[in-house]
Parts: sequence; structure tokens; C-alpha cells
Amino acid sequence: MELKIAVLPGDGIGPEIVAQALEVTKAVCRKFGHTLRDAHGIVGATAIDRTGDPYPQATHELCMASAAVLFGAIGSPEYDNNPAAKVRPEQGLLAMRKKLGLYANIRPVTTFPSLLHKSPLRADLVAGVDLMCIRELTGGIYFGRPQGRSEDGNTAYDTCVYTVEEIERIVRLAYSYALKRNKRLTVVDKANVLCTSRLWRQVAQKIEKEYTDVATDYLFVDNAAMQLIQNPKRFDVLVTENMFGDILTDEASVITGSLGMLPSASIGIHTSVFEPIHGSYPQAAGKDVANPLATILSAALMFEYAFNLTAEGAIIRDAVNASLAAGIVTEDIAEQGKAAKTSEVGAWITAYIAKAK
Ligand code: IPM
Ligand code: MG
Repeated sequence: MELKIAVLPGDGIGPEIVAQALEVTKAVCRKFGHTLRDAHGIVGATAIDRTGDPYPQATHELCMASAAVLFGAIGSPEYDNNPAAKVRPEQGLLAMRKKLGLYANIRPVTTFPSLLHKSPLRADLVAGVDLMCIRELTGGIYFGRPQGRSEDGNTAYDTCVYTVEEIERIVRLAYSYALKRNKRLTVVDKANVLCTSRLWRQVAQKIEKEYTDVATDYLFVDNAAMQLIQNPKRFDVLVTENMFGDILTDEASVITGSLGMLPSASIGIHTSVFEPIHGSYPQAAGKDVANPLATILSAALMFEYAFNLTAEGAIIRDAVNASLAAGIVTEDIAEQGKAAKTSEVGAWITAYIAKAK
């Protein structure tokens, strides 16, 4: 089959980790006889420097014309804590999510047996964790207007907005995943304080009646944050609004060992985007030390979600597990003095796939 993908490396470590994920993708295509057509685009600080726009129209057109987008990371320290910056790299990511209609961000959290000892939690709490966070991605406080500062600069405001339609589509999607998994859904909100959360709960409670095969429970976000570390195995599918999902998934990622391991799929109306959940880690840019596994595992999700190619996704996951078991890992998860480079991890996984039966 022909796989037409857009590759957006972005900033910081983005180009290095995406290069490895792309090599892995090519190895899988060679193995299974697919033709890869990859076209590259700019996004983030890199795009601001060249065009003034963090998500240029040409990049958007490239994404729209592709069947999937493989995305690295964006963000640059030049723009952080710089009130004079008129446009920020992150706006590129938000514009891409909005324009592609990517209303759902799927973040599966699974454990890697050989990494159990790297978790900040006790191994018995972590072994067997298998949950899926479904984060609403194009609404809430990230996009609500008005947003800004008062004229004297002494007051700032953001607005959290959700409509019934936005809540319905993400909750229904979450139920569809719960049905395919262990048939449990946790709806996370802050309905004791926020009006938008009360609407979430009202809508979810109505939809719940249609899914009698799924056991639904409701948690306030503070309680959910606590239970994620106290007993992560209690969760199957978790659905929540944009900002709560952003925070809970960083928390969930370290349960399994490193922020550098967690992939994601953003899906919705137009082309789906596959990206690691971590940021651009500018301190490590160009040093060949960043963990490429979250991006490589995002490529596995790309085969499965965008192209329905499950054996191709599985072989990537096998190869990643083998690299972990062999100790071919970057410094964030390596034993002292035994760290491999980003490119070495990628090359090992690519070679493993080429040799696999
Ligand atoms: C993420 C990131 C982004 C977000 C940032 C870079 C804007 O943290 O994808 O989780 O907050 O959504
Ligand atoms: Mg985040």
C-alpha cells in the first residue's frame, strides 16, 4: 500500500527523534512491501524564524494532502518568559490541532517490564498498568475567548468554554474505546467548582445510559491525580477536558518510567497527527541524547490508527521492547554509564525490524 505522510520535525530535539522514527517507518515499509511517500514541512519556532507564522499555510496544505502526520515537538526558550514575543511556537501546535479538527488526543499508557525499576512508584503498583487517556484537544481554556490582559496590565484572563456537541463527540469516542477494551470508563472533571465541568457531567450521564455494557465512574480531577499514583491499575479508559488531560498525561507518563516513552495519536475531522507527548527539550537539542522511543511508538500508532496496519504497529512495539530488554536505551532510562545515543537506539530498532521473521 502507498503511505503518504507529512513529516513535521519542529524544534529542539524534534528533528533528531523524528529522523529515527522515520528510519523505523521506512524499515517497516520495506519489510511489508509498502511504498512510503514522505514530504517534510516546517512548524513551531523554526517556522516563525523563516515565515513569521508557527503553522504556515503551506504546512497546513501539506498536512491536509497527507494521510497522516508524524510530528516531533515544538517550543524554544527564546520565546519562554518573553512577554515581547508576539507569536509563540506553541500557537503553531494549537493552530494545527484546531485547523485539522483534532478533537481527540489518545494517550495509551502501558508498562514495559524491563523498565519497572525506573518508575517512581513501587513495581507492584505499576506492573500491568494498561490505561488509555482520551483528552479533548480543541476546546476548553486553551481556545476559549476572551483571553488577554486589561489595559493597565494588572489583570489577565482566560475563558473555559465547552458546548454540548464538543462534549458529546469526545465522550462517545471514549465509550467506543472502552467497549473495545475492558469496558470501564472514568469521566474526569471538576464539577464541584466549574460550570463547564457540570455540563460535561450532565452530558456524560445522559450518554452513559446508551452504553449499559460499560461501567462508568466520575472523578474530580484532583482525586483522579491522586488515584493515578495510588492505584493506576484501577483505570481503563479515562476521558477529560483539554487542560486536565494535559496535566494528567504528564503524570501518567512517568508511572511507566519516563516522559520519553509515551506516544499519542490526535484524531478528528481531517488528517490525524502522531506525536510524542513530551516537549522539545531544548537543552538536549543536537546532542543525540534524547529518547526517540515516544516518537517511534507514535509511528506504531500511525500504522495502526491511520492505515489500519496492525502487524506493522506490532513489529515496532516488539522491537522497542527488545531494545529495552537489551539495554540499548538513552540516558533517561539507562543504567549509569551505559547510555546509548538517540541515533544508536534508532539504528538498533531499525536493524531489529529488518532482521525480524
Ligand atoms: C502537549 C503539550 C502542549 C499542550 C504544549 C506544547 C502546547 O504540553 O501536547 O501535551 O499543552 O497541549
Ligand atoms: Mg503537555
